[in-house]
Amino acid sequence: MNKIIDPAIPRHVAIIMDGNGRWALGRGLGRLFGHRKGVEAVRRTVDAARESGISYLTLFAFSSENWKRPADEVDGIMELIATFIHRELDNYHRQNMRFQMIGERSGLSAKILRALEVAEERTRNNTGLHVVVAVNYGSRAEIAGAARALAKKVAEGRLNPDDIDEAAIGEHLDTAGLPDPDLVIRTSGEQRLSNFLLWQTAYSELVFLPCNWPDFSREMFFEALSEYARRNRRFGALSAPQAALTDT
Ligand code: FPP
Repeated sequence: MNKIIDPAIPRHVAIIMDGNGRWALGRGLGRLFGHRKGVEAVRRTVDAARESGISYLTLFAFSSENWKRPADEVDGIMELIATFIHRELDNYHRQNMRFQMIGERSGLSAKILRALEVAEERTRNNTGLHVVVAVNYGSRAEIAGAARALAKKVAEGRLNPDDIDEAAIGEHLDTAGLPDPDLVIRTSGEQRLSNFLLWQTAYSELVFLPCNWPDFSREMFFEALSEYARRNRRFGALSAPQAALTDT
């Protein structure tokens, strides 16, 4: 079934879920409490995304830089991701949702890898909301990987260097086949991309929210979509009124 394309609704929303630690710290709790509360916000957000009519939702769950955190926090976050996927899989599969992981698979524990791969395999043919979970993901490493893959093809005589264009690079990223995010939301008040989808967000609209991720609500999700609908996306061209002025 074809979806009606409404340009006011982003096709792909990507979220940097930041501020779990600060949420916990503000309440005198350990950081893992914040991550646990963060999982509840993930659940609310997936439900809101499904209702909103967007097609793709990408969640930045663990960056390649997050390994620098204490081992118990790293293990705790991994456990939460694996448990969340394991628990929600039946439900999300029934709702026709598709799961995909992006990021470096080597280095992940067998448990989380298995949870992610089972979810990917089981939901492969689903056509509803496509949820992408970025785990052990870093954008510069992803781009370097694409450069390596292309260089190998050139060295093996399978690719002409003149054929390396933007599309060729895009096809060698983890996100090959996914549309670029139209909207990136980051919570916690920080205003940066932190090595998240640097290639893919060239023309994304950015919305920074002051709340910490555990406090992110469905209302905030819909408000971010409304903010997106008010933006004037030009992709380097002129807006319609500007174009009309140059015609006269
Ligand atoms: C950033 O907050 C959050 C993370 C590094 C982990 C995000 C993980 C979850 C929300 C849990 C599971 C995810 C899924 C997809 C089920 P921070 O710890 O950097 O917060 P801080 O900047 O306040 O310290």
